[in-house]
Amino acid sequence: MRKIAIINQKGGSGKTTTTVNLAASLAAKKRKVLVIDLDPQASTSQWFGVTVVEKGLLSVFTENVPLASVIASTESPGIALIPSSSWLIGLEKALANEVGAETILKQKLQALDTKSWDYVLIDCPPALGILTINALTACEEVIVPVEARIMAVNGLVQLLQTVDIVRHRLNSSLKISGIVPCRVDSRTRHSKEVVDELRKNFSELVYKTAIRENVRLSEAPSFGKPINEYDPNSNGAHDYKALALEVIKQEQALS
Ligand SMILES: Nc1ncnc2c1ncn2[C@@H]1O[C@H](COP(=O)(O)OP(=O)(O)OP(=O)(O)O)[C@@H](O)[C@H]1O
Ligand SMILES: [Mg+2]
Repeated sequence: MRKIAIINQKGGSGKTTTTVNLAASLAAKKRKVLVIDLDPQASTSQWFGVTVVEKGLLSVFTENVPLASVIASTESPGIALIPSSSWLIGLEKALANEVGAETILKQKLQALDTKSWDYVLIDCPPALGILTINALTACEEVIVPVEARIMAVNGLVQLLQTVDIVRHRLNSSLKISGIVPCRVDSRTRHSKEVVDELRKNFSELVYKTAIRENVRLSEAPSFGKPINEYDPNSNGAHDYKALALEVIKQEQALS
């Protein structure tokens, strides 16, 4: 079971779009995927049409509730979801005096039946707070979507430092599986410059696949479907399929 945190502290970088559509493209390749929505904004949960009004995931963090009890099914074949809850907003405060709060998700994930899923993808909030740190501690891998419309390199340096700190203090097996340029607009020179800059600075860490700007991707959440169901012939569907194939290729190196 590969556990991958999808992180970027910058808002609107493509985390949720990548989580949902990578999950669906992996599922289309017969991988069983558990998606965890760790963002109190609950965008991934809304995309799958699953929302919770109760404490949900918050009770997993603050009470003796197992992860298995909050897993929901989705209409997308091969994908199960642990939905977010707006109650998660209060988590930072709730855990302020809790010893070892960074490792709660790791322990809860370890108690899950690992044979049920090939992949766990965790959509993180746009912050490097306790939720993201929990994801980084629970996972072996990180995928970083980067919005290629802005100069993103500075923020990435801070992100990579945080990953380094977590690796040293909490999780020695953590590694960056890849950086994904998102919202790439091939018509603008600037977008191309950002992708070139990413490849120059982070070389082999950057996936070969770049996700192009595609209006179908931004429409898909309103229809409650991943892009490969909403518009299988769109650029967005092609790009996320290509990304999934690259991610699947990494399985060989891990086994
Ligand atoms: N390749 C793309 N083409 C067109 N629109 C996109 C693309 N990727 C993302 N978007 C749009 O950009 C916005 C931000 O994307 P998304 O929600 O995936 O980012 P995020 O990192 O999850 O944001 P947040 O930090 O708020 O959680 C959304 O409106 C989404 O529909
Ligand atoms: Mg998001």
